[in-house]
Amino acid sequence: MIIPPGEEGIALMLAPAFPDRPLLSMRFSKPLVMSVALALAAAIFSSTDAWAQPAERSGKDVVDKVCSKCHATGAQGAPKIGDKPAWSKRASQGLSSLTEHALTGIRQMPAHGGSPDLTDFEIKRAVTYMVNQSGGKWVEPISKKSPPAPRTGEEVVKAQCYKCHETGKGGAPKIGDRDAWIPRLKEGLDATVRSAMKGHGGMPARGGMADLSDSELRSAVIYLFRGPAPGKRP
Ligand code: HEC
Ligand code: HEC
Repeated sequence: MIIPPGEEGIALMLAPAFPDRPLLSMRFSKPLVMSVALALAAAIFSSTDAWAQPAERSGKDVVDKVCSKCHATGAQGAPKIGDKPAWSKRASQGLSSLTEHALTGIRQMPAHGGSPDLTDFEIKRAVTYMVNQSGGKWVEPISKKSPPAPRTGEEVVKAQCYKCHETGKGGAPKIGDRDAWIPRLKEGLDATVRSAMKGHGGMPARGGMADLSDSELRSAVIYLFRGPAPGKRP
């Protein structure tokens, strides 16, 4: 059977209505599979209308261009990037509060870091990025406006993820092994992508590729699930 690429492909493969149902093994109830299909269908819609939007800068971009002016050196008493004690104290108030202070300014910290063109969302990502560069383990918020992935899922997997996911090293679910992947997708694709951002057990955060964008990571997860030969089951 021919499976269309991308998320539609996953939704189709998981859809209970599909006549050829290799995935509906005894272990998965119909409602579960249905809810996975629905979650994935929702993901398709949210990513399609997103493509019309302009690109949003990553936390790293914003920090490199704007925030590092003070936060790289600690100018004027700014908590320095990499200074774990300074950031962990501030981070304990949580992302919303930190973002609020970055938006409105606090003492010597100018509102929006002095760049009014930054969106609230970009500020939030920048804060997360600085916290994570300083010993934090926060998840950079996923943009609803992410542009399409500059690197394909296949490219990302071949550059990095295959190192563990090809052989199943450390218990990594293997590329294209749908029996191993379906239980991990039961909360929906977004949840699995978020889990890969954070990492857990033998899985490093973002698979060990710090520069991987959210949408690239998402494409890579889809590729890991689908395997290398679209349309042909391994
Ligand atoms: C002109 C210098 C300057 C720039 C540029 C700057 N900051 Fe700051 N920032 C500061 C200073 C100084 C403080 C410490 C303020 C204090 O607590 O007295 C600070 C503190 C903060 C805090 C901690 C707030 C809190 O509640 O403790 C956050 C978060 C922050 N900055 C985020 C950012 C972000 C995001 C950017 C870039 C968009 C940025 N800053 C750019 C100077 C700067
Ligand atoms: C150093 C080895 C290693 C690399 C490199 C790696 N992974 Fe993993 N990955 C693992 C292991 C081990 C697990 C299983 C972790 C567990 O469930 O305890 C895993 C699990 C996952 C999961 C499932 C998460 C969940 O919540 O069940 C996803 C998704 C994933 N990896 C994506 C990726 C992507 C995408 C890449 C490349 C960008 C990548 N991995 C690179 C080792 C790796």
